[in-house]
Amino acid sequence: MSMWNKFILAVRPRLGAGTRLLEREALAAKTTMRIGGPARVYAEPAATEDLRVLLLEADRRALPVFMLGRGSNLLVPDEGVDGLVVSLVHDHWQRFEPQPDGRIWAGAGLRLKNLCGRATKTGLKGFEFLEGIPGTVGGALRMNAGAMGGWMFDVVEEVHLMTMAGEMRVMSKTEMHVEYRICAELRDAIALGAWLRPAASAPADDIRRQIDVYQKKRLESQPREPSAGCIFKNPPGDSAGRLIDELGLKGERVGDAEVSPVHANFIVNRGHATSADVVALVRKIRARVKGERGLDLEPEVLLFGRDWRDLL
Ligand code: EPU
Repeated sequence: MSMWNKFILAVRPRLGAGTRLLEREALAAKTTMRIGGPARVYAEPAATEDLRVLLLEADRRALPVFMLGRGSNLLVPDEGVDGLVVSLVHDHWQRFEPQPDGRIWAGAGLRLKNLCGRATKTGLKGFEFLEGIPGTVGGALRMNAGAMGGWMFDVVEEVHLMTMAGEMRVMSKTEMHVEYRICAELRDAIALGAWLRPAASAPADDIRRQIDVYQKKRLESQPREPSAGCIFKNPPGDSAGRLIDELGLKGERVGDAEVSPVHANFIVNRGHATSADVVALVRKIRARVKGERGLDLEPEVLLFGRDWRDLL
């Protein structure tokens, strides 16, 4: 019997009825790039205890675990992932709970769009920059996602997380190591949710007006085709998109993977792009930027189950 079959036999009787546990679940449709193979085992826990059971058992058997948020900053290999992929999409993780003291509890599975929409309706301001990011609260914490001059940890007070060994931790923002597109504590732990602090109260119409400004800017400057957002981190003080654009790489293709003619730091899927196409295009761009500008562009997008350093 394979190690995965043993894992499933061990966990299934201990999981609640609402928790989904599937084998060889296709991941492409769960990513914004629409690329990649299946997860060997895929789980949607419906309770904190079920998440703990899954993590503990995987840890005990030394099986790899990967978190899937909204899949918007992710490249899944064509062969899929030989691991347990965990997604916090169940309602249990999607709570939005404003408190009388002004804080908001946001579950890790809550979509940023919903966080922003509900905060607006409640008359709480400060989340507008997150509206157009196609991610979840958990993914945005992991990546310290950002746009329009703000980033996720601007609005965070405290994060509740679970270690890969199933232990609960509560960490205040000041205890965490947060930088541009990375939160070190969440590299090997899972965010369950966070206490967020709005900037201020404001009339919903005013908040909506600001969201419209950001939305317009995004629509004008970013492509509509499937992508994983910006593919490279911006080098300090510079813009990867502008650099790639200046080198005339817009429209460059490998298979159906294309450097977007709208924004050069986006690789779009023109139909049937594979993960290998995207990696080949990333290599091509990096080689040109290195050759002509002497800069090493670092991928921003996470590669499931692999290390970019092994592929570049
Ligand atoms: N530019 C070009 N050509 C291009 C793309 C950009 O000349 O093809 C120029 C723009 O005209 C502008 C400058 O480069 O003067 C910066 O471009 P932009 O405002 O689009 O911002 P960015 O630095 O490319 C960052 C984030 C985005 C975020 C936007 C908007 C990174 C890697 N990217 O992009 O985040 O949406 O700001 O705030 O930090 C993401 O992380 O996936 C992402 C899309």
